[in-house]
Amino acid sequence: MSEAAIATPATQTQSGNAQRILIIDDETAIRESLETLLGLEGYAIETAVNGEQGLERIEENSYDLVLLDLALPGKSGLEILPLIRERHPSLPVIMITAYGKVDNVVDAIRSGAQNFVQKPWDNEKLLADIRSAIGLYHAEEENIQLRRAMKQRYNFSNIIGKSEVMLRIFDLVAQVAPSRSTVLIQGESGTGKELIAKALHSNSPRKDKPFVAVNTGSMPTDLLESTLFGHVKGAFTSAIATKKGLFEVANGGTLFLDEIGNMGMDTQAKILRVLQDRRFMQLGGVQEIQVDVRIIAATNVDLRQAVRDGRFREDLFYRLNVISIDLPPLRSRREDIPMLATHFLKHYAEENSVPPRTLAADALRALIDYDWPGNVRELENAIERGVVLSSGPVIGSDLLPSHLTGRNYSTSLLEHNPNASLFDILEDIERRIIIDKLEHCNWNQTDAAEQFHIPLSTLNQKIKRLNIEIKKRVKE
Ligand SMILES: Nc1ncnc2c1ncn2[C@@H]1O[C@H](COP(=O)(O)OP(=O)(O)OP(=O)(O)O)[C@@H](O)[C@H]1O
Ligand SMILES: [Mg+2]
Repeated sequence: MSEAAIATPATQTQSGNAQRILIIDDETAIRESLETLLGLEGYAIETAVNGEQGLERIEENSYDLVLLDLALPGKSGLEILPLIRERHPSLPVIMITAYGKVDNVVDAIRSGAQNFVQKPWDNEKLLADIRSAIGLYHAEEENIQLRRAMKQRYNFSNIIGKSEVMLRIFDLVAQVAPSRSTVLIQGESGTGKELIAKALHSNSPRKDKPFVAVNTGSMPTDLLESTLFGHVKGAFTSAIATKKGLFEVANGGTLFLDEIGNMGMDTQAKILRVLQDRRFMQLGGVQEIQVDVRIIAATNVDLRQAVRDGRFREDLFYRLNVISIDLPPLRSRREDIPMLATHFLKHYAEENSVPPRTLAADALRALIDYDWPGNVRELENAIERGVVLSSGPVIGSDLLPSHLTGRNYSTSLLEHNPNASLFDILEDIERRIIIDKLEHCNWNQTDAAEQFHIPLSTLNQKIKRLNIEIKKRVKE
C-alpha cells in the first residue's frame, strides 16, 4: 500500500481538497439527509432542486460524483442522465429510485448510471458505493492521463502501471529498445514478460520487421532445433522440403525466446553460437546463414539458480543477461491494481458489447488484498469473468472467484470486522500510525507534525476527523 494512499483521507483528492458531490433531488428532506450524511464524511456537497439546475451546476463546476433522483419535476432523471453523459462520459452517477421501481432501474442502467440506491437506503452501503465509484473514476482518469503520457513518451499505451518500480521499467524499456542488445526478461508467470518484449520491439527501428515468438520450453529438442534453424530437404525422414527456421523468418526483426529456462542443454549450446556471431546452419545444411536478429529472452525460472544446479549454461546466461528487466509480482505493487482493474473493465465491456461496468467497494477491496499468484493475467481473468457474469453495472464481490474473497488482510480492523471497506481500513491504519507517533512524541502535536513533515493544522484536522482522543502529556 503506498504512503500516499494512507496519507490522503478517503474523501479528499490527492491535492488535499474535499471531493465534490452534486445532489440533484427535488425533495428537501432527501437532499438534507444526504447532505448531512455525506458532509459528515468530509465531502463537499452542492445541491440542485431539478435536472435543469443540476446540468447548469455541472456545466460550471467539476464534481467527483452525482447523485441523481429518478423522479424529478420537468425533465426526469432518465432524461438528464444522457445529457450528463454527453459532456462527461465517465463521471460517476448514482441514481436514487423509489423502492421497487425495477423497470426504471433497468432503464437508468442502460442509460449509463454506475449504480443505483433505493429509498430508504442503508447509509453504510451508500457510503461504500460512493467511495468505490469515486475511487475507480479517479483511477480511470489517471489511466487516461497515463496513457496519453505513455503514448507521447513511448509507444506503449497498452501497458498499465503507476508504481515507482513499473515507471522505472518503462524508462528502461524506452532506453534500451532502440539498440540491438539482447534483453533478458525475468518475472513470475503473468507479470507481463511478453507484453514488455513486444514493447521493446515496437519501440525499436525494427518495428516494421517481424516479431517472432517461440516457446522454447515446451518443444522436444529435435523439433525445437528444426523450428529455430530450419532444415534442408532430406535432413531427416520427414524433411520432404527445405524449410526456413525462425531465426531466418525473424531476420531484420526480433526473435522472442520464451521460457528459455526450460530449454535443453544441447539446444543451449547451439543458441550460444548464434548469439555470438549471428550465424548458424540449417539441419543437414552445409552453408552458414547470416542473420540480423535481435534476441529477447524470457523466463519465470531463476536462471542463476539453474546455472548453479547445472541445468543452464553459465556462458549462455551471461550472453543473454546483457540487459535484464525484472518484472515484479503484482502483490508487491498493489497500487497498480485499481488502474489495471479499470483498464480491463473497459476492455472487456467493449469486447462483450455491454455497457461500462464498475466494481462494488467490497470487490475492489478483495482485489487489492489478494496475493495474485497468477499476477496480471489472473487479475485480467477475474475481471473478464466478472464482466461476463454481471447483469447490472456493478460487479460485487460475489462475482469474483471465491478463493479471492476468502483471504483476510491482517489489520486489526479487518480482524474485528471482515466487512470493513478499504477506506475504513486505510483510515484505521492512518489512525494507528498517528496515535503511535503521538505517543512517541509524548503527545506533543507540534513535534509529531514536524516528524510527519506536515503542517500542524493538517495534523489537527486529521486528529479531529479520525476521532483521536488526545492524552495528557506525561511530565518529563
Ligand atoms: N502492465 C500491464 N498492463 C496491462 N496489461 C498487462 C500488464 N501486464 C500484463 N498484462 C496482461 O496480462 C496478460 C499476461 O501477460 P504476459 O503474457 O505478457 O505475461 P507473461 O509474463 O509472459 O506470462 P507467462 O510467464 O505466463 O507467459 C496479458 O493479457 C497482458 O496483456
Ligand atoms: Mg509469456
